[in-house]
Amino acid sequence: MSAELIFVEDFKKEAKKKVSPFGWGYYSAGSVGEQTVHENCEAYKRWRFRPRLLRYVSEVDISTTVLGSNIPFPICIAPTAHHAIACAEGEVETAQAAESLGTGMALSIYSNRTMEEVAHQAPKGTKWCHVQIVRNRDLIKHYVKRAEKAGYNGFIVTIDQAVLGNRHHRYPDGTSFAFKQLHPSTNLLESTKHFMPHMNEIRAFLHLTDGTTEWDSLDWLRSITKLPIAVKGILTSEMALKAVEHKVDGIIVSNHGGRQLDGTFASIDSLPEVVKAVNGRCDVYFDGGIRKGTDIAKAIALGAKAVFVGRPILWGLICGGKEGAQRVLEILRDELVTTMQLLGVKSLDELQTTPDLVVHESYLFSKL
Ligand code: FNR
Repeated sequence: MSAELIFVEDFKKEAKKKVSPFGWGYYSAGSVGEQTVHENCEAYKRWRFRPRLLRYVSEVDISTTVLGSNIPFPICIAPTAHHAIACAEGEVETAQAAESLGTGMALSIYSNRTMEEVAHQAPKGTKWCHVQIVRNRDLIKHYVKRAEKAGYNGFIVTIDQAVLGNRHHRYPDGTSFAFKQLHPSTNLLESTKHFMPHMNEIRAFLHLTDGTTEWDSLDWLRSITKLPIAVKGILTSEMALKAVEHKVDGIIVSNHGGRQLDGTFASIDSLPEVVKAVNGRCDVYFDGGIRKGTDIAKAIALGAKAVFVGRPILWGLICGGKEGAQRVLEILRDELVTTMQLLGVKSLDELQTTPDLVVHESYLFSKL
């Protein structure tokens, strides 16, 4: 891996050169006009720091817990599909990167390696299983029980994929979603084979996006597992209150990296509304557009307990497999520490509770 990869954006540029045009398209695509993909990153610029200086910041503690598991820094790996496009061992390398640093990884239901293989090859790491709940509950129950047996630490239920978003990316083969070029989602197929033996990759995928999931499916999931449950895809106070009502352990504020409904608010702009509605009744986590330590500091100051990172991990995997993903996490971690020191805070609690440490740019004018 090149020594010149020192910022996350360096990994992005290098990854684009190294991966196939199909792979690049699949990983970077958003839906429709890609307004939300773009805004997810741009919106951080509208949130500004108001530092407190001359405070002791020589030692900074950034450890926290996510769904009850201890992690040394508040940056985890978001569930993203198909890591075999990026590196030979796929999600096994991703899990080993997280494990080597002691942080957590969410394994996508569409992963190319099964949850059992990943657990076997990264046994010590904190791992959550991504799941979507559909009409065929036997299938999902089978998947949930596999995860419990393999030692996963909880579930992340994605709710913003009732159907597949309208991806307007044009692939080299002229299609807008090049299913044929994807490696099989062996993780999902390991469960479908027991219930729908003739199901192929495309049908299995479409089966999970059949538009049948409703809020009570969370109660059903709660009734079949004791592991913690986080719901991913919350963007509004209305949805946040519903999630609290259904007794989830955590909420992930997310718009799926702009791959589902285009035209939502940027993820970071949605965070304060959700945090206010939840009012401490469950953990709030966050993802979307994180490329720098300053982005993470802003998300935590606005109420997130920890953040999840999607595309930057994929860029790391393309550039250097396990070591590449590990390096991306280290860069973000170290940038977060520096940002906190420059802000004058030495713990995540101080970052979150110091009044007006991060404000919307309109703040300045409202005070004049
Ligand atoms: C995703 N995301 C995603 N989310 C999910 O709940 N299940 C999944 O299988 C996937 N798959 C997936 C594939 C790819 C290629 C991408 C880029 C994203 C969304 C992901 O978990 C996360 O919400 C976003 O990636 C966060 O935005 P950033 O960090 O990519 O900007």
